[in-house]
Amino acid sequence: MNWDQSRAMLQRSRQSLAGGVSSPFRAKAPVPLFFDDGKGAHLWDVDGNQYIDYQLAWGPMILGYSHPAMVAALKQQVEKPLSYGAQHPLEFTVAEKIQQMVPCAERVAFTSSGSETVQLAHRLVRACTRRPKILKFEGHYHGWMDGALHSYKPQENETGPLEAPSSVSGSRGQVANAADNVVVSPWNNLELLSRILQAHPNEIAGIFLEPVLCNSGCLMPEPGYLEGVQSLAREHGCLLVFDEVITGFRIHTGGAQKHFGITPDLATFGKAVGGGVPLSVVAGKAELMEQMFTGGVVFGGTFNGNPFSLAGANVCLDELSRDDGAALRHANRMGERLMDGIRSLAAQHGVALQVTGFGTAFYLHFTTLPELRDYRDTLKDNRDLLQRFLLAALGEGVILVPDGRVYVSAVHTEQDIAATLERLGRAFAKL
Ligand SMILES: Cc1ncc(COP(=O)(O)O)c(C=O)c1O
Repeated sequence: MNWDQSRAMLQRSRQSLAGGVSSPFRAKAPVPLFFDDGKGAHLWDVDGNQYIDYQLAWGPMILGYSHPAMVAALKQQVEKPLSYGAQHPLEFTVAEKIQQMVPCAERVAFTSSGSETVQLAHRLVRACTRRPKILKFEGHYHGWMDGALHSYKPQENETGPLEAPSSVSGSRGQVANAADNVVVSPWNNLELLSRILQAHPNEIAGIFLEPVLCNSGCLMPEPGYLEGVQSLAREHGCLLVFDEVITGFRIHTGGAQKHFGITPDLATFGKAVGGGVPLSVVAGKAELMEQMFTGGVVFGGTFNGNPFSLAGANVCLDELSRDDGAALRHANRMGERLMDGIRSLAAQHGVALQVTGFGTAFYLHFTTLPELRDYRDTLKDNRDLLQRFLLAALGEGVILVPDGRVYVSAVHTEQDIAATLERLGRAFAKL
């Protein structure tokens, strides 16, 4: 199938699926691709073309596709009830594993998507502090719910002054006054965060952040920044929440909180925790989490803690934590090799490129800026050039995330990385 035929297939799918396809690939992909199979780090489209994949379903496939241990566990589980809507032992088996891995996890709750975990975390911090507002950072993504989708990708003319960014709704149809309960701060700037907190005394229940700004350019926190945010949170009586839906079980088996050595009050996990099954987690301090049992905080969900998802997570967490996290160390090593290789290729071809992030989640910025600190810096990226590069990479059989992100899994091999660099060299030559 050539790309014209692929577009025709998209047209056909529009008759049945809103938007044509049901994944986030929909809006942003350089061309619509329809997949049929996958193994390890490789995907096949409906015509049997093979790709080395760095999209990994937007993150969850940390063990790659059809990992034998996942397949075996899920096959076994599928013979049993898929859901009980009641207690079963896998719940505490998986919760205990997370307690061992994640520093803040005194208690654990399960749900099915990252957006739901953030919704629960909002409720827990508001209930605990009896304050109405959430502080978030410009460019950070915390799911698509009304209370969370603010100032994720505001246009340059919407952002407002840097010292007091506007709270910009992300979608039509959002509750009109939801933005009133969201205070926005720029990322990587403690002085401005301090001033913004001072301007909202006793209003902010929780400070929510992606510990690495993965969703807008994989921008690392500057040294001392997360420590500074934590001490400002304490000074102002706010709870600190790490949204680890991407960093969780990617940067370290204990999440970014273990990697950076900072324990938040609450953390949310999703994506890689289940290795591809729908599962997400809220983990945190006992007194906060116990509000669900004793403090009148309501939390529900028909599929919460369902055995099928937990069977997947049980194996995924075992695979990731075996040999003191050898699988993730390998994944991050492969990713760093790819980052270095891409930097060299760009230099060889005279292309201005910044590669930011960490081994298993990094980002390609076609920019002339010497460094990127916050969301507003990413607005200067040359998106046309990125699109051309993504298309050229796809033509060479390499799938990158359509926004310029690259996810690396535990099953990408040295051969995959070498083959990828060879192919991306040809993609750079086409720019
Ligand atoms: C940091 C972060 N939080 C929350 C979410 C929402 O997760 P989900 O898509 O599972 O609802 C995402 C999804 O990309 C995310 O990256």
